[in-house]
Amino acid sequence: MREDRPVVVMGEPGIGKTKLLGSALAADGRRSFVGGALAMLSWMEYMPLARALGARRLSGDPAAVAQLVRTTIGDTGIIALDDLQWADEATLEVVALLADSTPIAATLRSGAPVSEELRARLVVLGFAVIELAPLPDEEATALVVGMRADLSEVAVRRVVRRCGGVPLLLTQLAGPEGEASESLRIALASRLRGLDPESVALFHPARAHWKADSGHPERAGGAHAA
Ligand SMILES: Nc1ncnc2c1ncn2[C@@H]1O[C@H](COP(=O)(O)OP(=O)(O)OP(=O)(O)O)[C@@H](O)[C@H]1O
Ligand SMILES: [Mg+2]
Repeated sequence: MREDRPVVVMGEPGIGKTKLLGSALAADGRRSFVGGALAMLSWMEYMPLARALGARRLSGDPAAVAQLVRTTIGDTGIIALDDLQWADEATLEVVALLADSTPIAATLRSGAPVSEELRARLVVLGFAVIELAPLPDEEATALVVGMRADLSEVAVRRVVRRCGGVPLLLTQLAGPEGEASESLRIALASRLRGLDPESVALFHPARAHWKADSGHPERAGGAHAA
């Protein structure tokens, strides 16, 4: 981000894209204007940019909106857009206009229907792609132990094994003896919404675990249908 090259953080659901973006912006020091797309509102023109600028709605052609963004963030700001996979086409056109002149950072979920095509578009625009990989076992273990010093070694190992290095799972699967919590079910239900079946299958081990433990297969299945 310091090189003023546009950058996009890419990775599977729950891997830590939003958190990394937030940490990078905090470390960056420039004034950040953070917005982003929402799955349920991807039909709404310029919504991700309106959130970033603190506007209720934005309208006009992409060139005018790009100019408004430049004016608003000034010479010392940076614009950040979370969850580009849900952005409307007009927002993406503005991103294209800003890419070589305005500091911009974004996140993009892999596994969404548009992810690969969008990644290719961003690369053509000069974006550097940062691929977030799962946490290695050692870091995953440290994360779980840091949160739950009371868990037995066996329970910690079980959580680490089941979570495949995904921080969302690691941080929420640390219930008593490493069982899935209600908040995890809710978080996953919302995050899996709109994903293709292949991506939902990434969560298969955790879902199988819920089924086995809860005795409510219909509930576990509801996570990806929600
Ligand atoms: N390196 C990390 N160490 C500890 N916790 C982390 C780390 N990365 C992410 N988390 C936590 O994991 C959870 C998921 O992270 P985050 O929301 O950033 O994922 P995401 O990739 O943006 O997911 P989504 O695709 O659903 O938007 C959050 O609670 C976050 O605080
Ligand atoms: Mg996110």
